[in-house]
Amino acid sequence: MTTTIAGPGPVAALTGIARHGFLDTVGDAWRTHGDIFRLRLGVGELVIAVHPDAVREVNLTNRRSFDKRKSYDGVRRYLTGDGLIASTGDLWRRQRKLMAPFFTPRGVLAYAGIILADALRVEDRWASLAATGETIDMGEEMMELTAAIIVRALFGTAADDEIVRLKGCVETMIRFTTRRMGPHLPDWVPTRSGREYARARDEVHAYIRRIIAERRSLADPPTGDLLAKLMTARGEDGEPMAESLLRDESITMFFAGHETTARTMAATWAALAANPEVEERLGAELAGVLGDREPTVEDLRNLPYALQVVKEVLRLYPAAPFYVRDAVEATEVLGVGIEAGTPVMLAPYFTHRHPDFWADPERFDPDRFTPEAEAERHPQAYHPFATGERVCIGNHFSLLESHLLLVVLARRFRPRLVGASPRWVMEGVLAPEGGLPMRIAAR
Ligand code: HEM
Repeated sequence: MTTTIAGPGPVAALTGIARHGFLDTVGDAWRTHGDIFRLRLGVGELVIAVHPDAVREVNLTNRRSFDKRKSYDGVRRYLTGDGLIASTGDLWRRQRKLMAPFFTPRGVLAYAGIILADALRVEDRWASLAATGETIDMGEEMMELTAAIIVRALFGTAADDEIVRLKGCVETMIRFTTRRMGPHLPDWVPTRSGREYARARDEVHAYIRRIIAERRSLADPPTGDLLAKLMTARGEDGEPMAESLLRDESITMFFAGHETTARTMAATWAALAANPEVEERLGAELAGVLGDREPTVEDLRNLPYALQVVKEVLRLYPAAPFYVRDAVEATEVLGVGIEAGTPVMLAPYFTHRHPDFWADPERFDPDRFTPEAEAERHPQAYHPFATGERVCIGNHFSLLESHLLLVVLARRFRPRLVGASPRWVMEGVLAPEGGLPMRIAAR
């Protein structure tokens, strides 16, 4: 056990979490104990490091001392199997190298058409919603949109009812996995949630198996979607991916790429509604560049303020507020000793509010992301996608997606909050407590 690092005692930590949630408990501990502290949670101990220098050490300069081990067992076992997010060693290296070309800034442009088509579909829907003034849950609205996009990017043309079923099943799997990361009954004890999980998992596995079989039976199979690229990719040994790995990578993309982007978009609408001067400036940029026409992907380079809005949302409301690495040997972070086996949690949510690196950190201000301001900052003060060799492989995909969705929809609409700005809590990802009721208003 790491003994030299201060932190709240186990009772204070557990009552804090029960009363105020994980996010506020970590925030209190940070303010009390500084940039590195420990949290004892009954079953185990976490070290949490907030300072950008710790982000650099764990992800870059001292990365050989860390890996995704025990902390990722739940995700690996119940959700993604050998998929990229939780795999390690040679398997991870091979898969990352093989898949990297599909996710470069140029590579992801292949999906712009899908994103745009789904954005335009929602634009039509919002025109009707603006007319009726109906209240919607913006979180759910964005989840449906990003699920449709990731399913079509993965499997090509999927029917709407297939998308709804897959989304439901993957969300059931994620909920079950999140619960399994805390104290739980052993797997062999039959529970309702266990049965629901097994049904959802079997359905997702069967769906992917069926699509792969269909593709293999075609003389001229589709080539453009991610599954096609995964099926035709060959490692240095010339071997294709096994069917189980194709399945695991597909589920990984759905899991990692759908809810994170949906939460980012939902937080964007809430932030714009709460910051009218930013909304105004965004509207002026869109009107100036687009006038009355629909945006295309080529317009994005002339809409830099819209991208700055997304980046500022990812600063204050990073969909992945924390991520963990397990120390594989005795090491140090910020000059403090860490024992082998200790999970070290990095905290974008708090690094992004560090007063030494961000002036007036709680203020929503997209001008923090002008190229000049970005160049001046500590490079690891901002890490919504992690950083280093295990940086999010979908970062360009999700920035393209968020940028395009924002410009298509904000050009015509100003969603309004119904009630106060939400309180953000940890629900596997960062989420608005009790949902995000909003009404669509035309610009
Ligand atoms: C706003 C949206 C997103 C955010 C905030 C986000 C954030 C992150 C973070 C923090 C990690 C590191 C996790 C860890 O180390 O445990 C990560 C990894 C990953 N993300 Fe994303 N992500 C987003 C969108 C996406 C999308 C759209 C995809 C796929 C299409 C994706 C696929 C992945 C994968 C496969 C990894 C694992 C990479 C590896 O370990 O080599 N993510 N993401």
